[in-house]
Amino acid sequence: MKRLDQVLAADGIPAELELVIDHIMIACKDIAYKLGQGELAGILGATEDQNVQGETQKKLDVISNDLLKDILVSNPYVRGIASEEEDYTVAGNANGKYLVTFDPLDGSSNIDVNLSVGTIFSVLEAKDNRPGDDQEVFLQNGRNQVAAGYVLYGPSVILVMTTGKGVNFFTLDTNIGEFVLTKSNVQIPADTAEFAINMSNQRFWEPEMKQYIDDCLKGEEGPLAKRYNMRWVASMVAEVHRILVRGGIFMYPYDTREPSKAGKLRLMYEGNPMSMLVEQAGGASSTGRMDIMDVAPKGIHDRVPVVLGSKNEVAKVVAYHTK
Ligand code: AHG
Ligand code: MN
Ligand code: MN
Repeated sequence: MKRLDQVLAADGIPAELELVIDHIMIACKDIAYKLGQGELAGILGATEDQNVQGETQKKLDVISNDLLKDILVSNPYVRGIASEEEDYTVAGNANGKYLVTFDPLDGSSNIDVNLSVGTIFSVLEAKDNRPGDDQEVFLQNGRNQVAAGYVLYGPSVILVMTTGKGVNFFTLDTNIGEFVLTKSNVQIPADTAEFAINMSNQRFWEPEMKQYIDDCLKGEEGPLAKRYNMRWVASMVAEVHRILVRGGIFMYPYDTREPSKAGKLRLMYEGNPMSMLVEQAGGASSTGRMDIMDVAPKGIHDRVPVVLGSKNEVAKVVAYHTK
């Protein structure tokens, strides 16, 4: 079986980018080890701090963030990083070619209950001469990503990534400490009858999203003429992984709980990398009104409504929003 470095080399990925990905994986292997140790490693529970998003940080949010930050800012090819858990961007090497944005630990509410969580990452090129702690250099839309992926910490540890040449799954072989290719050219089925959304927010959604979900719930007798199934893991990495494996649609729409926030999920740490993966696997990804990867970020912590997954089902949701 092929190792990650062999696959990246065969795809003609520049050695500099390969080293960036390799360093992200060193941190992810450490996170995977700590998650496996759980209570034994003292990683469960919350800190007393809040992040810039106003969320209480779990111990593992902070530990994962520090592991990724420390290795990446000392990588010679990284100009800077932006993280969901950092207030500001952090400078790396002033001559570095790449910018890395990441959600160090996605699905944090699952840590203490021993369920699936993940790490999401995105790599951009630093296009001008600005330093890596200047947030302006990061404000590029998702189409500019040169690599994107996640590591799912589940019963097995799986890296899912793309460099714009399709989507591959790599499983961590703990005997050799390497990710090995276990599935290539992943394709999302175009049709689905399985949706994922946090239904408890229903009364805060826009009328268009309420109508789509109402119609799903009507099943065979409704306008969508299908009996739907529902899933909600509360970990975007786990939801996207399920969609890559068997299709589905995942939504975290705009809601009015906090009108200043355009949904819960973050464009640069969650929306863009997941959109690149889903599009590269033949799926679609939208805010409901436009492709997520065409959204121009105004700040590194911007939020975005997310509708992604099986192409034909995403098109139906977009039709509800644009008719
Ligand atoms: P994070 O743990 O990085 O803050 O992200 C959690 C996100 C996402 O993974 C998940 O889909 C969603 O928030 C869960 O939201 P609810 O709390 O509404 O279930
Ligand atoms: Mn997240
Ligand atoms: Mn997170």
